[in-house]
Amino acid sequence: MSSTISEMDRSREIIRDFWSSPAPALSAEEQQALEQEICDLLVAQDAAIVAHYYTAPEIQALAERSGGCVSDSLEMARFGRDHKASTLLVAGVRFMGETAKILSPEKRILMPTLEATCSLDLGCPIDEFSAFCDQHPEREVVVYANTSAAVKARADWVVTSSIALDVVRYLKAEGKQLIWAPDRHLGNYIQRETGADMILWDSECIVHDEFKAKALEDLKKVHPHAAILVHPESPQAVVEMADVVGSTSQLIAAAERLETDTLIVATDKAIFYKMQQAAPDKTLIEAPTAGNGATCRSCAHCPWMGMNALQNIRDALRDGRPEILVDEEIRQQAEVSLGRMLTFKAR
Ligand code: 13P
Ligand code: SF4
Repeated sequence: MSSTISEMDRSREIIRDFWSSPAPALSAEEQQALEQEICDLLVAQDAAIVAHYYTAPEIQALAERSGGCVSDSLEMARFGRDHKASTLLVAGVRFMGETAKILSPEKRILMPTLEATCSLDLGCPIDEFSAFCDQHPEREVVVYANTSAAVKARADWVVTSSIALDVVRYLKAEGKQLIWAPDRHLGNYIQRETGADMILWDSECIVHDEFKAKALEDLKKVHPHAAILVHPESPQAVVEMADVVGSTSQLIAAAERLETDTLIVATDKAIFYKMQQAAPDKTLIEAPTAGNGATCRSCAHCPWMGMNALQNIRDALRDGRPEILVDEEIRQQAEVSLGRMLTFKAR
């Protein structure tokens, strides 16, 4: 997969450049002024912010305060589609902006940067994926939302981690054999849970793939009463230690519901902002991403989500770019597979 490797290398270089000159830290007064500027621009541009739980706390807070949303990728898609604003500012990664455009072609979709992508999207180039599907024409194609518009257009179904188990159980009951792409850990988890006949594409999320079962076991010994919450993009050995496995929204709901006062969380640590609001009296601990010899115990933060900042949100709203555009033929095809997810009701 030479094209995949070079795309990934290119993106890593962009991340390195980005983090070598990050946006300057703001004083409290500067941040307040910038937030006010963004709120004024949102009104002037008839815009709403649609943000993911993995963006910085100040972005999540601003999205909520200004009448936008902070949510998982399924709810982001629904909110963006149903909101009356003519412009959506999507704070997250590129596939989330593309999903918004696919569902709302009449809206202008702005993002803080188009370089914020996802290792799963990079790991599933359309030409190779399409050739893979062509080898198995008898199989229904189910893809994760973390893919390009072109991959969604090639699929029969798009799912997010909130709804993947329900959709695959339904397809299995219908007697379907499946192709699953791109996250092999999530695919593996779904296969184990549902017993569906699935062929898996081989890619992973570079953030969740780093969680380590052995170090988690050691951490659990220090906090024997803690519950372990795991996003299913994590490796099997980590998922098997979980008390709750679920999408970001499902993990936040579990944090609120569970009776235990300590939670070890295996997903991007930016989720702690909303999780702590949902469970204010609980202690949240990052699951380890490094073995015992490492100095960094948890680096669980998506480098692409981290490219969203108040400064580039302001710039995008002020300048009207960068804007997400999707080829109309691809958009129409992708709308079919995405639409199936959004109208799906668990049977
Ligand atoms: P959710 O759909 O659970 O929000 O996950 C999106 C994602 O990118 C997780 O890494
Ligand atoms: Fe993609 Fe992983 Fe980042 Fe989610 S956390 S956007 S799956 S790289």
